[in-house]
Amino acid sequence: MGRRRGVRRIPYDLIGSRESGAVAVVEIPEGVDPDEAAREIMRRHPHVKSILLKAGAREGEFRVRPLELLAGSEDTEVIHKEHGYRIKVDPRLVYFSPREATERQLIAESVRDGELVLLMFAGAGPYAIAIAKRRRAQVVGIELNPVAARYFQENILINRVGHLVFPIEGDVAYVTPAMYGRFDRVVMPLPKGAYAFIGHALRALRGGKGIIHFYYWGGEDAPLEAIRMFRREAASMGLEVLPLGSRIVSSYAPRVSKIRIDFLVRPLRVE
Ligand SMILES: C[S@@+](CC[C@H](N)C(=O)[O-])C[C@H]1O[C@@H](n2cnc3c(N)ncnc32)[C@H](O)[C@@H]1O
Repeated sequence: MGRRRGVRRIPYDLIGSRESGAVAVVEIPEGVDPDEAAREIMRRHPHVKSILLKAGAREGEFRVRPLELLAGSEDTEVIHKEHGYRIKVDPRLVYFSPREATERQLIAESVRDGELVLLMFAGAGPYAIAIAKRRRAQVVGIELNPVAARYFQENILINRVGHLVFPIEGDVAYVTPAMYGRFDRVVMPLPKGAYAFIGHALRALRGGKGIIHFYYWGGEDAPLEAIRMFRREAASMGLEVLPLGSRIVSSYAPRVSKIRIDFLVRPLRVE
């Protein structure tokens, strides 16, 4: 739903829908009364059932942000709607960002019918569902957080994509080796840490050929750093990587962004 600045310029995200109710995730600037802000958001959006205050940065392996209930219901499970599919999630327990809806669509559009896609770090499954709703492609999604993995399974059922999406609960580092050499495309949406899994992504491609969408976090040099990391790993496997382009997914500070870099991978040609 994006960032809204209407209420006394307080930024907040809405996650949910009219049918399930929604939660507002809010940052309260200095000098603003939190209770007043909560009342104003609920007045503007009658389907908002809970106001959650950002109480810190995303933390731990599960990348969940501490969220404090400021007002409304303790039940913060919602069904979020975007681009014709629904994602059930409790943002207090599982990573989910409504701001990344466009990014998910861009990835889904780049997939071709018939591909087999490996989605590392699947969360509640929004990338997998977006792809399966757009293309006749199969997606294997791996997720470590058991609560997110449960939502992922439920979201496959809710969106009727069980014939295309296959969820696995586990650690990418342990699960991927059994599937090396099978995939046409790998998506790596873990900006703070995906670099540790580059070797697994390269080995997951069929015949050393395919596309990798790599997410990374950093400043202006981030794309170059990513290219260097990929080239180093790929060379040790007899592969070459060609950067296809990069996109700033979101900016957090003047020089800090979440970036996606796309790579074409193929066997190194010996002249
Ligand atoms: C930034 S979130 C993205 C989730 C989802 N793709 C989305 O966009 O909503 C990264 C996810 O990776 C999961 N994760 C972290 N390390 C993992 C690992 N080693 N293996 C599998 N999943 C992992 C976290 O639990 C979290 O749900």
